[in-house]
Amino acid sequence: PAHEFPVSMRRQEVFFPHNVHSFRTTTPSCCHMLRNLSLMTPAGLFPIGLVGCGTVGTGVVRILQNSTALLTAQTGQQLALRHVVVRDPARTRDADLSGYAVSASLDALVADQTVKAVVHVVGGIASPRQDILRLLHAGKDVITANKALLCTHGDELFETAHSLGRTICFEAAVAGGIPIISTVCTALTANRIVAIEAILNGTSNFILTRMLDRRQIYDEALREAQQLGYAEADPTMDVDGSDTAQKLAILARLAFGTAMPFDRIARQGIQNIDLQDLLAAADLGYRIKLLALARLTAERLEVSVQPTLVRADRSIAMTSGAHNFIAIEGDAVGVLKMAGAGAGRMPTASAVVADLIDCVTGRAACTFQALLRLQQRTPLPLHPSTDIARRQYLRFNVADRPHVLADIADVLGRHGISISSVRQDETEDSADGTGVARLVMLTHRATEGRLQAADNEIDCLDSLRGPRIRMPIAD
Ligand code: NAP
Ligand code: HSE
Repeated sequence: PAHEFPVSMRRQEVFFPHNVHSFRTTTPSCCHMLRNLSLMTPAGLFPIGLVGCGTVGTGVVRILQNSTALLTAQTGQQLALRHVVVRDPARTRDADLSGYAVSASLDALVADQTVKAVVHVVGGIASPRQDILRLLHAGKDVITANKALLCTHGDELFETAHSLGRTICFEAAVAGGIPIISTVCTALTANRIVAIEAILNGTSNFILTRMLDRRQIYDEALREAQQLGYAEADPTMDVDGSDTAQKLAILARLAFGTAMPFDRIARQGIQNIDLQDLLAAADLGYRIKLLALARLTAERLEVSVQPTLVRADRSIAMTSGAHNFIAIEGDAVGVLKMAGAGAGRMPTASAVVADLIDCVTGRAACTFQALLRLQQRTPLPLHPSTDIARRQYLRFNVADRPHVLADIADVLGRHGISISSVRQDETEDSADGTGVARLVMLTHRATEGRLQAADNEIDCLDSLRGPRIRMPIAD
C-alpha cells in the first residue's frame, strides 16, 4: 500500500515499492534512500489476489505459506493472500485455503483497493481476457501463465496495461520453471539473438521419454502426464505442437521483435509417432524430440515446430520427462543452454511467485517497459518454409508386395530427393500380398518444397497402409 517518506526536508509522495511510475520520477539518490528507508521499515502488508487454484495455483499457495520469511526478506513486505477466486469454491483442493476469502466471483477482489497484484492462473482465452482487463482497469498488476491467451490477445492486454501504468508478468507462460523471459528481456539485451532451439512442451517430452524408456504406450503416457499436472485441461494442444508454437511465438516476439500468429508457424505434433519410430531412431543414433526452432538466416527468420531426430549425444536429446531445454544464441554471448522443469505444480509456481516478487519490488515494471521496447523493433521477414533444406527421416507402413519400395524411391528420385539409407525388417511370407512392411528411409538434404511435392504423390499410392511419418534430422 501507499507509504509516505520524508526525504531531505522535502516530502515525496510515493507508492513504494509498488508504484514504479512515481518511484522513477524521483532522483536516483532519492530512490536509493527510499529503498533503504523501506528496508529499515518494519515489513508492511502487501495484499494480493489469486484467480485459479488448480495445479499452478495450489503451488503458488504452498510457496506463499511455506516460504513466508524468504518472501518477506526478498520484498521487504509481507505478502498477504486476501482473495482466492475459483470456478467451484466447494471443491476439495491440495492446498489449505481456510484463511482466505474463497469465491466464484471476481467482484470482491476487483473492489478491494488494497490489492495491487493478482496472480491469474486459469486456462482458456475468453474469460481470462475479460478478467485480466478488468483487473488492470481496477489498478492491479497481473501475473499470468497463460500462453494461449498471450498469443491471441497479448497486444491488447499489454497496450491496456501500459496505458494504465500497470504491468503484466508472464515468466511461467514459457518453459515453466526456466527463467527464459527475464533472460531475454534483461540479461541478453546487449545481444542480437540469432537462434533459438528448444523443447518447450513438458507433456510431449514426457510422453516420448516414457514410450522409449518404459515401452509405455502413447495413451498410457499421456494419462500419466495428465495425472501429474503437466498437460493442459484439453491436452490436444500439448501433443499437436500448438502449445509449443504458442510459446515459440512469444519467445520469437521478444527475441527477434517479430510478431507472428502461432497458428501460422509450420507445426507438426507427436500423435503419429510410435514406439517403432523411437526405436528405429535410437538404432540410428538419434532421439526424437518435439523441437521448436527460430533462427536468422540471411536476415530472414525461419520458424518451425516439428518432431525432429537429434543426435543422441547432444544435451537437448538427453532432456527427459517433463523437462524443457532452450539453447539461445546471441551474437556476443554465443550459445547459452538452459534446462529444467517445463511443467508441473512447483516449478511453474516458482516462476509465478518470482514474478509476484518482481511486482512488489518494482522490478516488474522495468522489465515490462523493456519488453514493450523489444516488441517494437522492425519485424523480420519470415523465411518461406518451402526453401528450407534439411535431411529427413521417412517411415511408411506399406503393402508387402512387389514394386512398393521402387514406387516410393521413384517418386523421391523424380523430385530430386536423394536417399541416404533404407531399412526394412524381414516380414512374414504373405503370398497374397496382405502383409504390411515397415519402411524407414533417411534422405540427404532436400528442400521442404520438394519434400511436400513428393509427399503429395506418395499419399496417392494405394500401397500405403496408415499414416506415414516424415521428420527432419537436426544437423
Ligand atoms: P488447472 O489445474 O486446470 O486449474 C485451473 C484453475 O482455474 C482451477 O482452480 C479452476 O477452478 C480455475 N478456474 C477455471 N475457470 C475459472 C473461472 N472462470 N474463474 C475463476 N477460476 C476459474 O490449470 P493449471 O494447470 O493450473 O493451469 C493454469 C494456467 O497455467 C493455464 O493457462 C496453463 O496453460 C498455465 N500453465 C500450466 C502449467 C502446468 O504445468 N500445469 C505450466 C505453465 C503454465 P476449479 O478448481 O474450481 O475448477
Ligand atoms: N502443458 C504445458 C506443458 C504446461 O506440458 O508444457 C507448461 O506450459
